[in-house]
Amino acid sequence: MDSSFVKPLLLWYNKNARVLPWRGCGDPYRIWVSEIMLQQTRVEAVRGYYERFVAALPNVQALAECPEDELLKLWEGLGYYSRARNLQKAAKVICAEHGGELPRTAEELRKLPGIGAYTSGAIASIAFGEAEPAVDGNVLRVYARLSMFSEDIQKDAVRKRVREELLSAYPEADGTWGLLNQAFMDLGSGICRANVPPECDKCPLSGICKAHLAGSETAFPVRGAKTKHRDEERTVFLIRDGENVAVSRRPAGGLLGNLYEFPNCEGWMDADGAVAYIEEKGFLVLTVRELPEAKHVFSHLTWRMRAYELKIAPREERGEALQSAQESSMAELQKAPFEQAWIFAEPKEISRKYALPSAFAKYAELLEIRRGKE
Ligand code: ADE
Repeated sequence: MDSSFVKPLLLWYNKNARVLPWRGCGDPYRIWVSEIMLQQTRVEAVRGYYERFVAALPNVQALAECPEDELLKLWEGLGYYSRARNLQKAAKVICAEHGGELPRTAEELRKLPGIGAYTSGAIASIAFGEAEPAVDGNVLRVYARLSMFSEDIQKDAVRKRVREELLSAYPEADGTWGLLNQAFMDLGSGICRANVPPECDKCPLSGICKAHLAGSETAFPVRGAKTKHRDEERTVFLIRDGENVAVSRRPAGGLLGNLYEFPNCEGWMDADGAVAYIEEKGFLVLTVRELPEAKHVFSHLTWRMRAYELKIAPREERGEALQSAQESSMAELQKAPFEQAWIFAEPKEISRKYALPSAFAKYAELLEIRRGKE
């Protein structure tokens, strides 16, 4: 690879750069937040979240001090919630060890939670002018087509080599890598796209692109076998006590850790099964209604959800049912005290306080619970 891509790419970017809220701000904190939000997420999905997030938490210290539930509420709907938690962990480290200022090199940035090779390169080059490629899917696709690079781009070692090749093709440390990285991003997401035919007639690099010249653009990049995706059946319960609806907090650590959800369990139940399940927890079910099914696709897993709305008797009428449930499954109740673990709140309060991930969006909508930046 030689440096012949640099000039046409920068000229093209100069005329065609997307106008994005974090571009040109020069604020390392904002650039960092934008890069974390943009991990695995499209620019259009990020825009509104970004503006709201930096308005609520305008600097590293505000982020470090934000209560976790508020932070997750700001992130609600954006997915991959460990990004938000890592962002805050990193903010705390930056306050404690770096005087509240982001480290200025990719090498130092990479030591912070949530910042890997790509993000450290993006921040260091865009915010601090370091000569550092930011090798994400867009860069890999453009690079693989330009040079007919035939190795599996999913391998870390291959990504490392691409970084080295790009850097040795253009070792200039005059600050242009920040622009080059963003030019690759815009070219990769606008013209040299994944999963749709590239628009080579609009591409500033078509004259030097080996794959284009060979007529085999879509054969690149080369990817190895995908990791297996799993389907999981779940039953979701919208438990209504008058105006209130039950939500519960997911355990820390795992999938959607510390976020809120409508109580649910693995496996599909019919309406009778759902009533029995809820009554076993000590609630008296007055009515049950089947709701539309929903599906949510995570990166590695799809939830196929059946759901029921269950109206339960008010607390004072529940005594008897609770008592008999406690007698029949005391040990289980002691393990999982549902009456305490489930929070009954009005939809308005849930909208304000509890972060419900997109997996439950369809059911939140039925209850007029507002989520994310709606
Ligand atoms: N994707 C990841 N980082 C980006 C950025 N800074 N601009 C546009 N798209 C991006």
